[in-house]
Amino acid sequence: MHATDAGIIRTTIRERYARTARGAVPGDGTAGGSTASGSSAGGSKAGCCESGCCGSTDPAQARDLALKVGYTPKELQDMPEGANMGLGCGNPQAIAALRPGETVVDLGSGGGFDCFLAARQVGDAGHVIGVDMTPEMVEKARRNARSIGCANVSFRLGEIEHLPVADGEADVVISNCVVNLSTDKARVFREAFRVLRPGGRIAMTDIVALADMPGDIRRDVRLHAECVAGAETVGRLEAMLADAGFAGACVRPSPGSAEKLAAMFPNVDLKGLVASAVIEAVKR
Ligand SMILES: C[S@@+](CC[C@H](N)C(=O)[O-])C[C@H]1O[C@@H](n2cnc3c(N)ncnc32)[C@H](O)[C@@H]1O
Repeated sequence: MHATDAGIIRTTIRERYARTARGAVPGDGTAGGSTASGSSAGGSKAGCCESGCCGSTDPAQARDLALKVGYTPKELQDMPEGANMGLGCGNPQAIAALRPGETVVDLGSGGGFDCFLAARQVGDAGHVIGVDMTPEMVEKARRNARSIGCANVSFRLGEIEHLPVADGEADVVISNCVVNLSTDKARVFREAFRVLRPGGRIAMTDIVALADMPGDIRRDVRLHAECVAGAETVGRLEAMLADAGFAGACVRPSPGSAEKLAAMFPNVDLKGLVASAVIEAVKR
């Protein structure tokens, strides 16, 4: 089934990540559930990717995926088991330059992996708020926080298009492989702008499009849930950030990532179409 309806896409994404949170094998051919397109694209086993958000339920594979997208062995130490599900496509910490005392909001926090890393950086005087629309993910992240006694992190159930965060509450908005999933990215950036204090910044990693997405890929709801079909072009993302009010909007595709992404979806012609990228901007 092909779908362009935002509600169907959102439901498909929520079902897919609920299964991931429950420990179902990601990319097992069930992604998208009854609303999936039926395409075999991306339906490989855990660890199907080196730079995308397919994830893995196997801790060793998830660790390998995290190292491949830019985390350091030190960052992976002492993480709650299952917080890293290999769902990221980069390492927002590497560009966020977090400082002690800062308040950080993580859009689409999943099992809380990036939140726990951010919590180490901002320390006891800081705070990290993870927002995710999938109840199973929020529950998992809260369990993870309890398991390591992490007191400067909280997880809120909500949509990144309607952030459950007060105006000006955040110093930094981070996100890892999530904005591509939104059907209203302009609204996500407007929300990020609203919750940041003046001088605040965004530091995200995400999948972006290097060219206009062919219609058959764009409409494939399963490829959307797998972080491919919803990717937006660099130029349009930068324009959306500027329209939201940000200064210095910069979207930089990571060298070599397009080839890795294309390789992980052997049944879809993604050559030169998508890449992982870093997204930075400042609220002046
Ligand atoms: C690819 S996973 C990334 C998780 C996490 N950032 C990481 O790197 O481990 C996408 C996550 O974003 C959440 N998500 C997707 N769309 C969302 C939306 N519109 N609002 C809130 N959460 C969303 C999903 O529930 C899922 O947990």
